[in-house]
Amino acid sequence: MSPTRSLMLATALLGAPLSAHAASFDTLSGNAPVVIAHRGASGYLPEETLGGYELALKLGADYIEPDVQTTADGHLVAMHDATLTRTTNVETLFAPRNGSYRVSDFTLAEIKTLTVEPTGALAAPDSTYPGFTPVSATPYTVPTLDEVLSLLTTWNTENGTSVGVYPESKTPYNSYQNQKIVETLQAHGYTDASDKVILQSFVHASIVELGQELAANGMTAELAQLGGVTLLDGSYGVTGTDGFFSLAEIADVATGVGVSYTGITEAFIDAAHALGLTVHAYTFRPLSEEAAFAMIQPMLEWGLDGFFTDYTDFGLTVRNSYAADVSAVPVPAGLPLLLTGVGALVAVRRRRKAA
Ligand code: G3P
Ligand code: CA
Repeated sequence: MSPTRSLMLATALLGAPLSAHAASFDTLSGNAPVVIAHRGASGYLPEETLGGYELALKLGADYIEPDVQTTADGHLVAMHDATLTRTTNVETLFAPRNGSYRVSDFTLAEIKTLTVEPTGALAAPDSTYPGFTPVSATPYTVPTLDEVLSLLTTWNTENGTSVGVYPESKTPYNSYQNQKIVETLQAHGYTDASDKVILQSFVHASIVELGQELAANGMTAELAQLGGVTLLDGSYGVTGTDGFFSLAEIADVATGVGVSYTGITEAFIDAAHALGLTVHAYTFRPLSEEAAFAMIQPMLEWGLDGFFTDYTDFGLTVRNSYAADVSAVPVPAGLPLLLTGVGALVAVRRRRKAA
């Protein structure tokens, strides 16, 4: 643990009410790492659909993730790919346009005629999940970002929850799309960081523009630069679609990074945290709980702030198990012992990492 993190932990403990047990984490905030439902419940149901997002909410996700593409007539839809072929039945209903099936060549009305099909490794071919009946009459069509936000707002209102949303402005860079994402969030009342919005993009220019759009509209939200972990000339950074940006450069415009888990190290997390950046990992696709523990647990020990997963249930099992483990670390009952306790806690963590 870096000296900065030790100081933050000490500060957090000093500010917290004393109790027999207290949870603490090596995350930047000290809060539990967040579980992000990647493309909905995409391991089980068709990705980026209302049915999939609803299942992710029922499974207990902290955030749902819609990727965002723009249709020919300027509507925002939840869709990962720039083309419709991998996830929908477009080829059975339409001829190619301009030699392909780009989202940007089809109107929303046309896209609404498509069916999204399951692609997850544990998905049922008939788009079902045991015991789950979606509320939407059209759960496996392509939803608009509007519809995803409406689903989320209804869910939070009805259940007294505060699940967040983590929209990604997809490539290629599209200024209209960035502006429209911010406008859509505003229309749904997601205007403040406390509304738990994290905007993300692999395009650094989009991160900059999204930040400017938020500010221009008097809004705040977290911003995450996506890409691969890169160590260049001794400095950590992230390589997105428009090149390498150091963590210091990213910290000027964003609040965090979303990086491929394959490149994450404890040193990278420490470097990001030292600059006030959160670190979220993508994308964990464990096919069992056992696999989930093997993939995710070590990075939680390093202080990972959150992770994208196709399997919210497995992700939560690991995160919640880790939370229970951490909360069992005793906190001293008196102030004179507190700083000694912090040192002991750090030592416990170091022993765990070394084990
Ligand atoms: O946005 C984080 C993660 O979703 C990045 O991967 O390709 O699934 O959008 P991708
Ligand atoms: Ca994404």
